[in-house]
Amino acid sequence: MEAFAYMLGKNRILSIAELASHFHFNGIGFRVLENRQDFFIAESERPADANALGGLIKAAEIRNVIGRKELPGFLKHDSDMNLFFIKTDDSRLVFGVSIYPWSRKNIELHKRISLIIKKRLREEGLKAHYFNLPKDRCSLTHVEVIRQEIIEKSFEIVLLICDSRIYIGKTVGCHNPFEFQKRDVERPVVRSELSTSPRLSRILINLTGYRKGDKLIDPFCGTGTILQEAAVMGLDFYGLDLDKNMADAGRKNLYWISEKYKLNLENLHEKIKQGDARNSSDVFPNNGFDAIATEPYLGPLLKRRPDLNHAKGIIREIEPLYEAFLKEAHKILRPGGRISIVSPRFITEKGIVRLETERLAGKSGLQPFDILQLYKINHPHPLTDFEEGQFLGREIHIFEKAE
Ligand SMILES: C[S@@+](CC[C@H](N)C(=O)[O-])C[C@H]1O[C@@H](n2cnc3c(N)ncnc32)[C@H](O)[C@@H]1O
Repeated sequence: MEAFAYMLGKNRILSIAELASHFHFNGIGFRVLENRQDFFIAESERPADANALGGLIKAAEIRNVIGRKELPGFLKHDSDMNLFFIKTDDSRLVFGVSIYPWSRKNIELHKRISLIIKKRLREEGLKAHYFNLPKDRCSLTHVEVIRQEIIEKSFEIVLLICDSRIYIGKTVGCHNPFEFQKRDVERPVVRSELSTSPRLSRILINLTGYRKGDKLIDPFCGTGTILQEAAVMGLDFYGLDLDKNMADAGRKNLYWISEKYKLNLENLHEKIKQGDARNSSDVFPNNGFDAIATEPYLGPLLKRRPDLNHAKGIIREIEPLYEAFLKEAHKILRPGGRISIVSPRFITEKGIVRLETERLAGKSGLQPFDILQLYKINHPHPLTDFEEGQFLGREIHIFEKAE
């Protein structure tokens, strides 16, 4: 087994859960070596593909592990630079150096290391320049790696500094944010106030543990973002929305994605229907789906933070919808199938108000599925996704229908 490092997206726990699901359901054995704030290092037979996952920024192959004190000598003399660079005559070669975690000390170290590597490359006959970072950073962003074509045309050395050792690796994969952006804003129907982001859509799908060709449904499909990601990922997708305009919007977006990505999608009227998720089994067959990934109605759009009573009122209003839908979810999932579902979490001045999604799922016979617990990775319950200052957060739950 080789070791690979993963630089995590803005929601580290969710990114790790997605990564663990990816390994687990693709039958890739893995062992956690380091679980740090900005990165995660694991031994595995092969690396996870940073582009298949919504929550990863970069993936790097670990080439050396050294003691912290050995670093200067290692870079000046001992390291085999051939492990990192691509032989080329291009004198404009720009290589990258990224150090994790971010700290003031590591900013100074970044400059020193970049110069040492540049000198070593010159000794090897290669005229190269390092990517100059702004003064407050010690690592390249994924946008910089993609724009400079660093992986294809050059290389990036990453240093991951842990308590007693330093892992040194080469970036082998990088998330391309431009593709997500394109699918988000260039599609014919954009409803940013209502839509799930492509990033979260992909994470939700990955958390279901799907396999290529599996049947996945989003019974609250709206503009079809989850279905778009499912289509691009090679899943057989289906959707439902109560609002006819939304079902039409979903189909329009899927036609667009079919053309953009040459997917030859057919029968979209059969696949995306107008209908009530509370009666999903009237529209779609029982035991018919391997996976459900969905963000249901989270309550009315709010302009300002609700007070405690207002938030409790919204939860009371949507609880019957979730309860009725989860019963249907149990019917349409095949035994062993999984659902990843978002539910609302209001952050009020007087505390958190949430839907007891686990209780409702339990009532319909669905069992919680905790990928992180399975690999003994500590994490707060439930998984959440929200940004600093937001008053409506998302909880992300995964449930399984017993075999
Ligand atoms: C949060 S939005 C889904 C966003 C969607 N993932 C997207 O990217 O556009 C919730 C959707 O649920 C739909 N909806 C509300 N109640 C429903 C029901 N009972 N059955 C089906 N769809 C429903 C709404 O019309 C809305 O489009």
